[in-house]
Amino acid sequence: MSAPTNIVSSGSVKTLFSPIRVGPLTLSHRVVMAPLTRLRSQIPGDVPVDLMAEYYGQRASEGGLIVSEGATVSIGGRGYLGAPGIYSEEQIAGWRRVTEAVHAKGGYIFLQLWHVGRVSHVDMTNCEMPVAPSVVPFEGIVVTRNGFVPPSPHRALEIEEIPKLIGEFRKAAWNAKAAGFDGVEIHGANGYILDQFLQDGTNKRTDSYGGPIQNRARLLFEVLDVTAAVWGEDRVGVRLSPNSTYNAMFDSDPEATFGYVADRLNRYALAYLHVIEPRVKGIETVGEGQPPVASALLRKIYKGNILAAGGFDPASAEAIIERNDADMVAFGRYFISNPDLPKRIQLGLPLNDYDRETFYNNDARGYTDYPFYDE
Ligand SMILES: Cc1cc2nc3c(=O)[nH]c(=O)nc-3n(C[C@H](O)[C@H](O)[C@H](O)COP(=O)(O)O)c2cc1C
Repeated sequence: MSAPTNIVSSGSVKTLFSPIRVGPLTLSHRVVMAPLTRLRSQIPGDVPVDLMAEYYGQRASEGGLIVSEGATVSIGGRGYLGAPGIYSEEQIAGWRRVTEAVHAKGGYIFLQLWHVGRVSHVDMTNCEMPVAPSVVPFEGIVVTRNGFVPPSPHRALEIEEIPKLIGEFRKAAWNAKAAGFDGVEIHGANGYILDQFLQDGTNKRTDSYGGPIQNRARLLFEVLDVTAAVWGEDRVGVRLSPNSTYNAMFDSDPEATFGYVADRLNRYALAYLHVIEPRVKGIETVGEGQPPVASALLRKIYKGNILAAGGFDPASAEAIIERNDADMVAFGRYFISNPDLPKRIQLGLPLNDYDRETFYNNDARGYTDYPFYDE
């Protein structure tokens, strides 16, 4: 393993529009599109459709980075009907049209690898009981053919089943390569399976995957190892959400938990560490006006690129780059409503508002019909 990736313009004043090295890529700006589940895939099959290629193509920019919506690594990892997968040939072919559309605009795109763990329902998993590190009942929401419903009861993964789960991530990483992505992001955030293992509110195991943080982080790092073996460390990002309570998450000592992970990630030359600010809970802001804290904290520990996300507007994004608490900023909701977001930010143009009602409908409304500034 080698040293963390360098930051190009150290020493000079950085802005959102100074270039940056991300692994082998040179990005022309630091306005990243955050992973955004939009439930537009073809059902059955969870296959990315041409409408999705159009959507991502609209949001691609020369030298800009997009992180795709979460793509499930297996049937057992599904929790939201309409979310795409990355485990079948049809899905790979569908994603290939997405990556081609992004590359045609000179952009880059990483695929987010996703397994929801306990945030699932038997309707989504071929009637198999959803799996998690431990049985910890919670109140949550999943999306099935019956709409937004509570998750099914889950069971604890047997230790003998863990290699199979890791194998699903490995296969998904290969599939992402076949689909033409530029890299992958491991979804270790927002209360899904890797986060469930990491935090002690959801991990009550007494085997080598539970107890001290070294054990709770084992799955995340084993997944990282197999993914990096496929892609090279510098084309892999990791997403974390310290202190988030989304999906009923809890940890008794988040600073120690996430500090340990960030420190250990220094052993890898990753593309970036993606940090969600706790002022955002999943898909909504809960701490209006709160400053970003998580990226600043992990910045002190992690030596590679930090991609900060959660509640940024153009001014606060510029400010965090100038303060050097982050190297790039991911925008979620504003990228939904502004296909040309980097350009608007660069030129100081007004932003379209987003419409929450159309985040998850399964057509073009609120998806590919947001206007570009010059329309
Ligand atoms: C509609 C919607 C879908 C989302 N889907 C994902 C996802 O698939 N994976 C993920 O890690 N985060 C997901 N998020 C969280 C966003 O990536 C981001 O962290 C959050 O929106 C905060 O950023 P913002 O304040 O710029 O919107 C989603 C958010 C929204 C609004």
